[in-house]
Amino acid sequence: MAERLDTSDSRFLRACRREPVDATPIWLMRQAGRYMPEYRTLRQRYGILEIIKQPELALEVTMQPINAFDLDAAIIFADILPLLEGMGLSLEFIKGEGPLIHNPVRTADDVARLAAPPPEEALPYTLDAIRLARKELAARGIPLIGFSGAPFTLACYAIEGGSSRHHARTKGMMFGEPALWNELMTKLTDAAARYLVAQVAAGAQAVQLFDSWCGELSPADYRLCLLPHMKRLVATVKKAGVPVILFGVGTSGLLELLRETGADVIGIDWRIDLCAARNRLGDSVAIQGNLDPITLFAPWEAIQPRAQTVLDAANGQPGHIFNLGHGVLPETPVDHVKRLCEYVHAASSR
Ligand code: CP3
Repeated sequence: MAERLDTSDSRFLRACRREPVDATPIWLMRQAGRYMPEYRTLRQRYGILEIIKQPELALEVTMQPINAFDLDAAIIFADILPLLEGMGLSLEFIKGEGPLIHNPVRTADDVARLAAPPPEEALPYTLDAIRLARKELAARGIPLIGFSGAPFTLACYAIEGGSSRHHARTKGMMFGEPALWNELMTKLTDAAARYLVAQVAAGAQAVQLFDSWCGELSPADYRLCLLPHMKRLVATVKKAGVPVILFGVGTSGLLELLRETGADVIGIDWRIDLCAARNRLGDSVAIQGNLDPITLFAPWEAIQPRAQTVLDAANGQPGHIFNLGHGVLPETPVDHVKRLCEYVHAASSR
């Protein structure tokens, strides 16, 4: 029986390793969330942080899209920002506005004060949720993805104190105070690395680094200010023995640098043709993506050819994981997500 529970041969993990698969695997960033009625029902009773911090609830939400759609991987229900709470920042999600950090990191003292608690102490709830989810998913042969924010995207929230358009204070520190920047990045890199290694120990079978906002940087600044930290982060996590997926938005100017981090899978958005990305990345990495999430608002007759365009660009070669180019949006029709999963499998079946 134990053998049957082995998910290491699943489509998703095989594609991460660039091995041949019987059909293209699909999962969706933000596959659990407000577009699902089951999630909205739970959110009427609990805040997002309450759900994340109660492993049984986080498990329930993790499983909602798995129960509803033919997905090839689950992603643990959590967020990139609670990691910052453990470091001493005070986090709140404001209804209708998004995250707010009451004591953002602005000065050398703020950086020096950042704590480095073990993940088992700071984020025990997500590690417990991973243990629960892994058990439940194993019976269905579905692998579990863990995740963390990457240091730059974490810094954007820690420094700005919330979402921002231009990340001006963050880039201000990066350009103007390089020593302080490196100290902050070192601390965020250490925290993300230890968190991901703990997630793997708890049962995560792949991990994704969300560097959502790194596409805002010039290639020269990515190389100078991020790449050394990213290389160290990816190398540390890879030693835990699972594939590392690196995702960012608007990264068509950075693809070669993302590959240089050592990540196994590069997640791309829809602003670049997947075949062009493949030509630039070569075949030493897998590619994840890249349907425009807004496509899912259109009638199925418009979605289907666009999903097919992504499959055509991947051309059935090993190492493609179907995904959106960014997260599922709140008003997305549930039925379109369902049909997309079924279509990707049927149209790519080999
Ligand atoms: O993919 C999944 O299904 C796992 C869950 C997940 C969430 N956040 C749950 C969530 C993941 C992987 C994230 C990552 C995350 N969180 C990122 C990187 C990915 C990206 O979208 O670029 C970022 C930047 C955040 C920070 C964050 N969390 C913001 C800015 C917000 C508010 C804006 C918004 O989208 O609502 C959140 C809240 C959040 N995290 C929600 C969910 C389902 C919506 C909260 C709600 O229920 O009200």
